[in-house]
Amino acid sequence: MRGAVVLGASGLVGQRLQQRLANHPMFDLRALAGSSRTAGSSPETLLWGLEGEAPSLHLPPVLDVQDPALIETLRDLGITWAFSAVPASVAFELESRLVDGGIRVCSNASAHRRRTDVPLVVADVNPQHLAARPPNEVLHACATNCTLIPLLMPYLALHRAFGVSSYHAISEQARSGAGYPLLRGEVPLVPDIPGEAEKTMAELAWVTGQLNAGVVEPATVDARMRCQRVDETEGHVVDVVFDLAQPTTLREVEGALDAFTTHADAAGLPSAPHAPMMRIDGSVERRLHLWADGLSFPTSVDPSTDLQAGMAVVVGDVQMERPTRVRLRALSHNTVRGAAGGVVLLAELASTLWP
Ligand SMILES: NC(=O)c1ccc[n+]([C@@H]2O[C@H](COP(=O)([O-])OP(=O)(O)OC[C@H]3O[C@@H](n4cnc5c(N)ncnc54)[C@H](OP(=O)(O)O)[C@@H]3O)[C@@H](O)[C@H]2O)c1
Repeated sequence: MRGAVVLGASGLVGQRLQQRLANHPMFDLRALAGSSRTAGSSPETLLWGLEGEAPSLHLPPVLDVQDPALIETLRDLGITWAFSAVPASVAFELESRLVDGGIRVCSNASAHRRRTDVPLVVADVNPQHLAARPPNEVLHACATNCTLIPLLMPYLALHRAFGVSSYHAISEQARSGAGYPLLRGEVPLVPDIPGEAEKTMAELAWVTGQLNAGVVEPATVDARMRCQRVDETEGHVVDVVFDLAQPTTLREVEGALDAFTTHADAAGLPSAPHAPMMRIDGSVERRLHLWADGLSFPTSVDPSTDLQAGMAVVVGDVQMERPTRVRLRALSHNTVRGAAGGVVLLAELASTLWP
């Protein structure tokens, strides 16, 4: 078992990580680290904000990310892996400090995304970007923006089958995507999400980019996107129009979406869904499809034990607007697949390369 710390003690993604690591077969959660608000507190006293009870973890008091002796303390606890769920402004220095101290860092924060020496990885899509890193370096890897996931899976399926010449996407992002302050109504819901569309389009180009001498060359994609917040609890939906490089039929498009499979390197990992994407004939609905696992649509889930639930993207309302234009809607669980589940899947893959 690999000793692990979660950076972000009482935050939404931090708590999703605690759920996912509570009974994990490869990682042993041994500590939480947080801000001055939570440092020194007993983890059981922190406000729990997710569905169900907090997992029973028996952890020491929350460590202070500012403590100069943090790395020494982590080493004393036998911790070699950190899961980062702190704001980008904090992650920027903190993650680098941990990596310099020999701790492997897998991050949900955006601070180090799209750096040439920090792979940006969706484990079941571009594991080769991770594998290209020198095996003797201390691992530092980032998971992507949550909004990318429901766009990326259908994009790849269609691109591989027909070529995608351009896409135009509009997102409808749940309140949980902005953390507990918005989920709990402590800050007002503002529909506009500045910078989100640019970030998502850039990450799609990066994740689908080719390696050249070990460095990612971002793909060139003609794209337009608008991101907006909606008054839903969980789940990000994207409404996308894809222009294809060659004409096709609805039946062939459905076949390509159905045939999309996970990369072999990620298949069988504990958090890998049965299939990365599920197509349905009707419309995607958060209430019914949020916890898709690639095989079924569970509605009553214990995320502390079921690591596959919420890890599959669901695609519906597939239509041909013309022989080279497909419209569809796709849903992804933003705090599971788009955050904690995605980064744990990334760490599971990384642990096969950095044992
Ligand atoms: N929500 C999503 O769907 C989602 C998806 C992908 C990526 N992310 C990324 O995940 C990260 C966490 O987001 P969230 O949604 O969990 O937000 P959140 O609910 O607001 O939680 C924020 C977390 O950051 C920690 N934090 C804040 N200031 C800190 C400081 N000065 N020093 C140390 N820790 C500090 C807090 O620690 P304490 O608990 O100790 O106060 C808390 O755990 C962000 O980088 C976000 O962009 C979120």
